[in-house]
Amino acid sequence: MRKGFIFDLDGVITDTAKYHYVAWKQLADELGITIDLAFNEQLKGISRMDSLERILEYGKKENQYSMEEKEAFAEKKNTHYVTLLQELTPADLLPGVEQFLKEAAEKNIPCGIASASKNAPFILDKLGIKERFSIIVDPNTLAKGKPDPEIFLQAANALSIQPDEAVGFEDAQAGIQAIKSAGMYAVGIETQEALEGADQVVKQLDELSVDALLRV
Ligand code: G6P
Ligand code: MG
Repeated sequence: MRKGFIFDLDGVITDTAKYHYVAWKQLADELGITIDLAFNEQLKGISRMDSLERILEYGKKENQYSMEEKEAFAEKKNTHYVTLLQELTPADLLPGVEQFLKEAAEKNIPCGIASASKNAPFILDKLGIKERFSIIVDPNTLAKGKPDPEIFLQAANALSIQPDEAVGFEDAQAGIQAIKSAGMYAVGIETQEALEGADQVVKQLDELSVDALLRV
């Protein structure tokens, strides 16, 4: 019997990848690096600094900047990204999310957020669903990012459930790996790339039933 649901945010609850892309692309352009949408897929689920490192490697500029410069680049991208996030409203929830969370709340099933994003509380607030989550893991407290299971294990612990009592939801391969390494049931939300290792894959949350997931 499953007792709690743990969600990734970007790509599962709302589609922020397009805003990340606009902000990273502008910064990359300024650094003389051209990125495209296909490259952007690699940045899903990856922390802000790791995303920057991947962009610099892609442009063969990984050894050109000091740590202070890199931090300033990441900060600049984030300021732009947060400006774009101002546009978010509850209409930006992905299909089925609101209904799924409402049903989980009616059945007293606790829900948590396991996202690498430091902007998660702000995004959930803009989407009008922050109160649906009993916990939001603070990525600043993590030693390792996905695919390490740490973030999902911390979420289960904070929800007071065992890992094998949790269902995790993810749109990125690194996230599915993290959920499976944590010993949880993994639901993949499929976009472009196929998600290997997920126990179940859907295109959007309205294909799922809360009751059925509690029995997996
Ligand atoms: C999510 C996104 C990544 C992003 C990361 C950090 O995992 O999928 O693309 O880099 O969050 O987001 P942040 O809002 O902290 O820059
Ligand atoms: Mg994601």
